[in-house]
Amino acid sequence: MRILVTGGAGFIGSNFVHLTAATRPDVQQTVLDAFTYAGDRASLAGLEDRIEIVEGDVADAEVVDRLVADADAVVHFAAESHNDNSLADPSPFVRTNLIGTFTLLEAVRKHEVRYHHISTDEVYGDLELDDPGRFTEATPYNPSSPYSSTKAGSDLMVRAWVRSFGVRATISNCSNNYGPRQHVEKFIPRQITNIIDGVRPKLYGDGLNVRDWIHVDDHNRAVWTILERGEIGQTYLIGANGEKNNKEVIEQILTGMGKDAHDYDHVTDRAGHDRRYAIDSTMLREKLGWAPEFADFDAGLAATIDWYRANEAWWRPQKAAAEAKYTGQSVIS
Ligand code: NAD
Ligand code: DAU
Repeated sequence: MRILVTGGAGFIGSNFVHLTAATRPDVQQTVLDAFTYAGDRASLAGLEDRIEIVEGDVADAEVVDRLVADADAVVHFAAESHNDNSLADPSPFVRTNLIGTFTLLEAVRKHEVRYHHISTDEVYGDLELDDPGRFTEATPYNPSSPYSSTKAGSDLMVRAWVRSFGVRATISNCSNNYGPRQHVEKFIPRQITNIIDGVRPKLYGDGLNVRDWIHVDDHNRAVWTILERGEIGQTYLIGANGEKNNKEVIEQILTGMGKDAHDYDHVTDRAGHDRRYAIDSTMLREKLGWAPEFADFDAGLAATIDWYRANEAWWRPQKAAAEAKYTGQSVIS
């Protein structure tokens, strides 16, 4: 089997490529990645002899057509992925997330190639803290940010290409991932690397916003489950019952790194900040038999802290530029 992995030099994509190389050695992998600020060849270190790496843009119809023609399946991770960046400048989000997905859909339609679309729970908007409900496959789309609105638009195109053109596609909407090789702009790695640098972690607003954490390997095992056993045209929600508020997570990181649990600052809140995400992954579990292997967030977080401590050479080149984007935030308490 030959698969084309877009965004395979990013956080989740690179972990997917490593997992696939380890668990499915017969699968031939081609990575298509534009190597934006978020893509890093070092994330694929050790695999250079086993995979093909193509530097290119998912919105470039020529390169996409050529690579899709040679593939049995496409797994589309490539995206502009960070909400804060989308508030500062939405334009690359529109190009990559919408035009890029359109370009891939046209190629898989032409070459009749199986397609799996990686998406996010953020397409459903947010829930109140006291809402007993969780997102399901039937929840109406209601995105809040430029990032999530472009992901929502890309999902809707996939659904339309399935219905109108018979494209063999599945979609997964996953909650917040954590684990190795996540860019230091994101919440957990930003705080770990700030603490290593002797900088106080930054909590947006009151810090009571809830995210539903899942280890990146559990996400990627679910993607393989859907690729192998998913029903064409179906959307699957991926989540590991990992709801925690940001304050709890920051305090856990601080104590896990030997610091005082309250040694952090509250800073200006993110505009339009979603309050709570929560996933009901019953369909994936009951219909396809998937279950997360990282049941213990505390152990997964401790392993992630260890990874950043041991891999400063990987994250250090990103750190100053990532922090420079946050200079407008002021401490509120
Ligand atoms: P990331 O930002 O770490 O990686 C994105 C990758 O895509 C990078 O390697 C980047 O170079 C590449 N890329 C960006 N624009 C490109 C373009 N035009 N052409 C080719 N490559 C391009 O993102 P991530 O956190 O690994 O997210 C991967 C996917 O998973 C995204 O689709 C995201 O929406 C989705 N997702 C992420 C999470 C999460 O918690 N991080 C949760 C659910 C879904
Ligand atoms: O839910 C899935 C989504 O999770 C993915 O689709 C996105 O690609 C991914 O980036 C992530 O989005 P979030 O906006 O939830 O992740 P982020 O790491 O940016 O922030 C997590 C929470 O932490 C959020 O409530 C904002 C807060 N935060 C973030 C940063 C960077 C802070 O309090 N301080 C920070 O410094």
